Order: sequence, then C-alpha cells, then structure tokens
Amino acid sequence: MKAKDFLPSDFIPIRVDLFDELLDDRALERGSVILLSGGAGTGKTTFCMQSIYYSALAGEKCIYLSFEEEPKNIKKHMKKNFGWDFDKLEQEGKVAIIKLDPIKVSRQVEQRIDEKKGLLEIKLEDIQFPFKPDKVCVDSLSALSIAFQGQETYRVYIKELFELLTGLNAVSFVISETDQIPKVYSRTGTEEFLADGVIVLYNSLNGEKRENGIEILKLRSGKHYKAMVPYEITEKGIRFNLKH
Ligand SMILES: Nc1ncnc2c1ncn2[C@@H]1O[C@H](COP(=O)(O)OP(=O)(O)OP(=O)(O)O)[C@@H](O)[C@H]1O
Ligand SMILES: [Mg+2]
Repeated sequence: MKAKDFLPSDFIPIRVDLFDELLDDRALERGSVILLSGGAGTGKTTFCMQSIYYSALAGEKCIYLSFEEEPKNIKKHMKKNFGWDFDKLEQEGKVAIIKLDPIKVSRQVEQRIDEKKGLLEIKLEDIQFPFKPDKVCVDSLSALSIAFQGQETYRVYIKELFELLTGLNAVSFVISETDQIPKVYSRTGTEEFLADGVIVLYNSLNGEKRENGIEILKLRSGKHYKAMVPYEITEKGIRFNLKH
C-alpha cells in the first residue's frame, strides 16, 4: 500500500467526483481556506453542495453559509437537479444550511469598527455554528461585498473572516463570483493571497459551444495537477473528464 493510501486525520477529501485525484494528498488540510472563483452559472454552488453532500454521507459534519440564496431554495434545487436530499441530512444533524443577511453583517462590522477605531474582532456569536464542522462553505463573498460601503472595511472583515475559518480547523470553501474567464479572482484582489488555495471554474466559448474547465491555481498544503480539467454538470452533479 502506498503512503498516500492512508489519509491523515488532519486532511479532509473534497469528494466532488474525481477531483481529489488532482491532489497529491488526495484531500485538503484542515484549517485550509480555499477560494472557489468562477463566473455566473459555472457550478460554484453545485461544487460546494456536492462536496458537502458526499462529506455528510461519509460522516463529516458540514455547514453551508449562504449570503445569497434562501436555504429552502438551495435544497429544493439540489434535490430536483441532482437528487441530493439535504432536508434529510439536516434532520440527521449532519448538515446545517444557514442564511446570513449581508446587510446585517456589514452594519455590525461597520459599527464595531467605528466603536473600536479600526480594531475588529469577529466573535463566534456573529455566525452561529450549531456544531463543530469538518467542512464549511461560504456562498458568496460577492454577495457580502456589495453590502459593504467601504472597500477598506470589507477588506478588514475578509481578513478576520478567513482567520475565523482557519481557526475552525475545518476545510472551508469561500465562493467568489468573477467574469466567465477571470483574470482577477476576487473583489479586492487580496482574497487570493489570503487563501490557502485557489480553485477557478472557467466557462469559455468554443465555436458555438460553451465549455467548462476547472483549474487549481494554488494550494499551499501540497502538490497538485497544474492544467485545466474539463467538466460537465450532469444529473449526478459535476463530472470531470480526467485523461491523465
Ligand atoms: N441536472 C442538471 N444537469 C445539467 N446541468 C445542470 C443540472 N442542474 C443544473 N445544471 C446547470 O448548473 C448551472 C448552475 O450551477 P450553479 O448554481 O452551481 O452555478 P453557480 O456558479 O453557483 O451560479 P451563480 O453564479 O448563479 O451563483 C445551471 O446554470 C445549469 O446550467
Ligand atoms: Mg451559486
């Protein structure tokens, strides 16, 4: 048996189809915050929900924080599109899908920055975690960022949010909406430097056909495949076309 056949307990697989095969460790290190960037409809939400669904089936606890879509709509679409029953997983206490109001978050942060003159401290009460998660998804930073009036305040918040996620010792995915073929992977351009990893979903036009590709742009925790991998969204979720 090869060393990599043993999964160290401080690593958590992504569990989205064959994606873990692109990573030398076959998983991501706990405490990692991974920026998942891509254009509208490229499958960012699907990638995260698929990762959570298969994690929950494998006994890992997962939390989905939505700044955008209502949890009941996300669950309805996941069931209809891919047959994933998140109501059941929530009832079993394996998954929690939580809606956060970006306006409320930004107001709280801006108020606290005023009070403390720049010293910001995000308390865990700001985000209610019903259990200690193994995996967390934040969907999306873009929905959150538009609620902030000042870019500087948003930047301070993002830094603190990334630190908070790191401290959870889970694997966290943070979604960022970009152009269909992005050159910048986040709103302020600093998120990709703060993140421990960056995964980009592309949507390009080939003749009259749209084609999707995924790329691991950076990963601090280990070696990874370094080319674009084509993927499709199917009735079973994201499927990669791995040729190597
Ligand atoms: N069962 C299915 N089979 C094939 N494609 C599907 C299926 N269900 C959904 N899709 C495709 O998945 C896309 C949506 O994926 P998803 O919502 O994950 O993208 P997103 O990147 O999160 O989008 P947004 O930018 O709106 O948040 C749809 O635009 C649709 O084309
Ligand atoms: Mg989405």
